[in-house]
Amino acid sequence: EKGGYDYFMLKEIAEQPKAVADTLLGRIDAAGNLSLDEVRIPAAELREVDKIVIVACGTAFHAGMIAKYAIEHWTRIPCETELASEFRYRDPILGPRTLVVAISQSGETMDTLMALRHAREQGARVLAVCNTNGSTIPRESDAVLYTHAGPEVAVASTKAFLTQLVACYLVALYLGQVRGTKWGDEVRAVIRELSEIASQVERVLETMEPVRELARSLADQDTVLFLGRHVGYPVALEGALKLKELAYMHAEGFAAGELKHGPIALIEDGVPVVVVVPSPRGRSVLHDKIVSNIQEIRARGARTIVIAERGDAGVAPYADHLIEVPATPTLLQPLVTTVPLQVFACELATARGNEVDQPRNLAKSVTVE
Ligand code: F6R
Repeated sequence: EKGGYDYFMLKEIAEQPKAVADTLLGRIDAAGNLSLDEVRIPAAELREVDKIVIVACGTAFHAGMIAKYAIEHWTRIPCETELASEFRYRDPILGPRTLVVAISQSGETMDTLMALRHAREQGARVLAVCNTNGSTIPRESDAVLYTHAGPEVAVASTKAFLTQLVACYLVALYLGQVRGTKWGDEVRAVIRELSEIASQVERVLETMEPVRELARSLADQDTVLFLGRHVGYPVALEGALKLKELAYMHAEGFAAGELKHGPIALIEDGVPVVVVVPSPRGRSVLHDKIVSNIQEIRARGARTIVIAERGDAGVAPYADHLIEVPATPTLLQPLVTTVPLQVFACELATARGNEVDQPRNLAKSVTVE
């Protein structure tokens, strides 16, 4: 059942290239046009959308945070991402031109379900991004874009997260296509790169042995911190969440730009800090700023674990441990930078003797508020 792996989580991490490819399958044609026929919201209505609100919990919320960067950049539609549990109870402003995107692996998460019910009562359209056919959330939504990750058994979400990202990119690109925004070379390049992304994820998986070794060496630590910027920020949050739930360690993710506003006080000799570094190509200002953050924390004794694009010579001198990932466009980078963090958390949990597939106190689907 576990296909020769010790844990479902390891199997599901390994299945990610296929999950990503399956989620793209049939949705981009040879000319680079998207066809999301399942999204039954008429194009005319999608052209009228003036605000997008993404609601989700946990790991799915992190996918939604990343989606915000892509949606606003590619479509110029204002987008906010909110925890479903907060959204529901704060009297959010919604109307018929609001598109609510509810992201859920299980399709049964009560907070997300309550959020979408509330949104529909206010007249908003709801699009579900879901991995479970026929579950409650897609049944109660106006439309659904299914992720094709296959069944996810381990409590900690891995392949579902990567496919949620792919689905969100597809939604963003589709909205851009329907509305004719930003349909230029950049978007065409992204669509090309998306078709390559499964093999990039495969390449990351082939280079994970040093990450496992590193994780084992950190089994006695109390705290691990995670830093990122732009789409690397939600990746940092996701890395920290995985470590909490699997290794039961104190782990926190921060936006690197916030360091000086408080978190840098946590840095002391030997604290491991994982830093997700944006590509030095493209928006290089993001890259350069995080390199100076790494220098700052290293000067204060942090042990820097750096996830960076292969061949990034600018950051290499400041990395105590360097984890290289293939080059991708900035917005797609979470698809490759998340994978080492999953492996890291899984290996640390194993090294600490924890039950990987069934972490304490957690359930796979949270059907109570
Ligand atoms: C973390 C994890 C949870 C879920 C969250 C939402 O690894 O699995 O944080 O992401 O409970 O679940 P779904 O996506 O089923 O709504």
